[in-house]
Amino acid sequence: MDTDVTFNRSAMTLESAHLIELPRFLDKRGNLSFFENNQNIPFSIKRTYWIYDVPGGEQRGGHAYHSLQEFVVALSGSLDVVLHDGKEQKKFSLNRSYVGLYIPRMIWRHMENFSTNSVALIASDECYNPEQYIHHFEEFIKLKGC
Ligand code: TYD
Repeated sequence: MDTDVTFNRSAMTLESAHLIELPRFLDKRGNLSFFENNQNIPFSIKRTYWIYDVPGGEQRGGHAYHSLQEFVVALSGSLDVVLHDGKEQKKFSLNRSYVGLYIPRMIWRHMENFSTNSVALIASDECYNPEQYIHHFEEFIKLKGC
């Protein structure tokens, strides 16, 4: 039981968030990359969504999820993903269509600094459920026990 608690806590810190380089098939006809469930990313995908046509200076996100994990790729252009685990903040710049960011559950995140015409693809291990959302940073901090 104690081991589980330790494991779960470490899985919810910034140490577990990391960039993943995806396979690349370089071809003079155009390049190809992919990710598969539990191969290139550490979960099974239930949902994908994408963010596009973001006006200059806008932010998206600004919340955490109770148990949902995500993988974010800047398919086109660039954006920054800012993560906070309740103790520290870290910014990941995504600007390659073959590198994505794994975000564990219970990490506060927002996306900013979208370049013109950027497209962010997000894969998630759960279907959309508004009850997954933690909308207020103060509540997030309380739940983290920080
Ligand atoms: P939301 O996750 O709140 O985006 P942001 O945090 O960037 O503001 O989603 C915005 C709206 O889109 C919200 O009304 C719910 C809807 N939505 C879905 O219906 N399905 C989805 O998979 C997602 C991510 C959002």
